[in-house]
Amino acid sequence: MTGWRSLAAMGGLGVLLLALTGPAARAAAEPWMVPDDVALALRDPDRFAWQLFVAINWPALDEESAPDPEAALGEPRPVVWETWALTKDVYLPDGRTPPPWLDASNRLGPERDPDEHPLQQTLVRDTSPVPPGRTGHQKDEVRMNRAAFDYIRDNDLYSIDGQERRFYAGLPVQFPPEAIEIKAVWRPIGEADKVRYHWATLSDEADGQERLYGLTSLHVMSKVLPRWLWATFEHVDNPFRRGIHDEGWLIPSRDSVACPPEALDCGRLPSGFGLEGTVWANYRLRGTQIDFTDDYGLPVQLADSELETGFQRTSSCMTCHVRSTIGPRVNAAASFEFGTGYPDHPLGPPEATRLPVFKQNEDGSFESYRGAPQPEWFRLPSTGVASFDTYLQLDYVFSMMRASYASPAAP
Ligand code: HEC
Repeated sequence: MTGWRSLAAMGGLGVLLLALTGPAARAAAEPWMVPDDVALALRDPDRFAWQLFVAINWPALDEESAPDPEAALGEPRPVVWETWALTKDVYLPDGRTPPPWLDASNRLGPERDPDEHPLQQTLVRDTSPVPPGRTGHQKDEVRMNRAAFDYIRDNDLYSIDGQERRFYAGLPVQFPPEAIEIKAVWRPIGEADKVRYHWATLSDEADGQERLYGLTSLHVMSKVLPRWLWATFEHVDNPFRRGIHDEGWLIPSRDSVACPPEALDCGRLPSGFGLEGTVWANYRLRGTQIDFTDDYGLPVQLADSELETGFQRTSSCMTCHVRSTIGPRVNAAASFEFGTGYPDHPLGPPEATRLPVFKQNEDGSFESYRGAPQPEWFRLPSTGVASFDTYLQLDYVFSMMRASYASPAAP
């Protein structure tokens, strides 16, 4: 009897041990493997974020978007996310279908987006951006991995027409759990800084000169959770930059892996991820977000000083992104207006409708949405047809705003 009991107990324990050590142990054993442990993402999102950070910053195999297991973290060469698709290779002019992942050779190599600012920054900055740094300009890029790319391509979401069809069909947009997207910021650095930055040599559009750039910020979103897991990492120099768009870190960091619970903004590097002695030791997790509010109902906030400049104190990754939407096509007839303000009865071309990214205050300043999403944001003027009651959410992916119409819009 005792024998049977202890055997059963051992069996049970064995299963329990296996369940506890399975995926977590796998991810820890092979640091270049992208973590996919949902329980870890929910219960310990900061740890998940650091594992993800190591995996996507692992040196990439040439010509493939795979990590090179022979390489060491921090080797000065392109990393996994740098081989992913840039938005300009996904949302092509005239809504053309992007070539399949493996044919898209233009996503490889050091070619990056033109010196273009993320949409939300373009909205916020009324002066033309003159980022600080020694010379040259800040560069931003948005990239997606193959799972995200294939989903957009297979579902025709790369054109406004495809997105609108989805709205009219009332079909939800839902990326697969493997999808990951990033937004990165690069700033000009000097030779001596190479030991402290992940760097790349890029040409500066302002004067065509090749310059050294260092990675200063990295936004990551992983679809491991239905509402994604959100994380942002910054270089330790960022709070000390002094330029016109440098504000410092206006909300404290939260890293429960590196810091004790009573001082989550301790600013330390977490151990156990192999970061020590590499350039990555100079980057910090500013925090993660997996919900809109905390248990007191207060908005969860997270901001990156370089990407949420101008609205750090009201920034909530999830609340802003949940407003990535598509609505009905507003056509010329629908916008036709009479009155003294419209002496020529101008007919605009058909336009895609989306919710605005920002709330604009009366004084012209911008504020970003935070806290729980409100049903009335999404409501469309009543049409009497149930499926057209609301804007269609685009699964938090904002780059979809970059899509073009497949056919030139008729006047
Ligand atoms: C005020 C609104 C706003 C807030 C707050 C915000 N973002 Fe975004 N985000 C955007 C917009 C707009 C884009 C599209 C940028 C582009 O295409 O240039 C974007 C793009 C991204 C992308 C690229 C994938 C995509 O959706 O196109 C990632 C990753 C991202 N943001 C992560 C974050 C994280 C992490 C946070 C919180 C720390 C955050 N964002 C906060 C507006 C916001």
